[in-house]
Amino acid sequence: MQICPTKTEFRDAVANLRRDGGSVGLVPTMGYLHEGHLTLIRTSSEACTHTVVSLFVNPTQFGDPADLENYPRDTPRDLALLEAAGVAAVFLPSPEEMYHPEAQTIVETVDLADVLMGALRPGHFRGVATVVTKLLNIAQPDRAFFGRKDYQQLAVIRTLVRDLDIPVEVIGVPTVREPDGLAMSSRNVRLTPAHRASAPALNAALDWAELEASHTAISAEELSAAILARIAVADGAEVQSVDIRDADTLAPLTGPVTRPSVILLAVRFGTVLLIDQRVVTP
Ligand code: PAF
Repeated sequence: MQICPTKTEFRDAVANLRRDGGSVGLVPTMGYLHEGHLTLIRTSSEACTHTVVSLFVNPTQFGDPADLENYPRDTPRDLALLEAAGVAAVFLPSPEEMYHPEAQTIVETVDLADVLMGALRPGHFRGVATVVTKLLNIAQPDRAFFGRKDYQQLAVIRTLVRDLDIPVEVIGVPTVREPDGLAMSSRNVRLTPAHRASAPALNAALDWAELEASHTAISAEELSAAILARIAVADGAEVQSVDIRDADTLAPLTGPVTRPSVILLAVRFGTVLLIDQRVVTP
């Protein structure tokens, strides 16, 4: 496995891999890998001849410096996992390598940037859109793989790829969960034991909502109030938002849930913000 600290080395590594005429899949990550990332890598390995991974904690997508500083990191462990997973090359840049000191350009998906999670984390999706555009330009993969857990992030990435004519196929991979239903996330290690015990309440509320929406004429307003009530009783849960949106456009929905919709949750446990989502089909 080739470890590439510079853009040039990574681009050259991908070009070398392409020499056999095979396809290249890119899995962008911020490291501290868990089973969710390994599932993205396995999905890429099944779909592409070669899989390459970026490992970069992107400072421009963190509004709060403490959140950036506290983001868990374990590069030696990550590299061992990537090697064992059969990854061909890893991009491991420093922030100085990634961003020109006089960088002027940002990528913004205008309607999706400041709503939902973007309202809770101002600037977050501009940072994500900018770094993902850069990663796609640097690696020029055939396909790029992202978790569906970050539903709005996936929508942002699909939008920028469409709007900027980036020649890549974006693949959304289903959420991987712990046995008790908690969606896997690098942030989970920062939960206190009590909050970790409460956190499966998100998935439990989504399971209930999926069933309810599948066989009743419940309205988006009632569904969202009932989900909020279910999560709010979990010890330490501070519900930041429960949104029910059109599954494709993320436009807000009101009245009876009559078309494929996505429920988007953001719940704070102490300093840790957890998100989860579920597409429901009435
Ligand atoms: O989902 C993530 O880990 C990050 O937002 C991403 C896509 C790697 C961009 O930094």
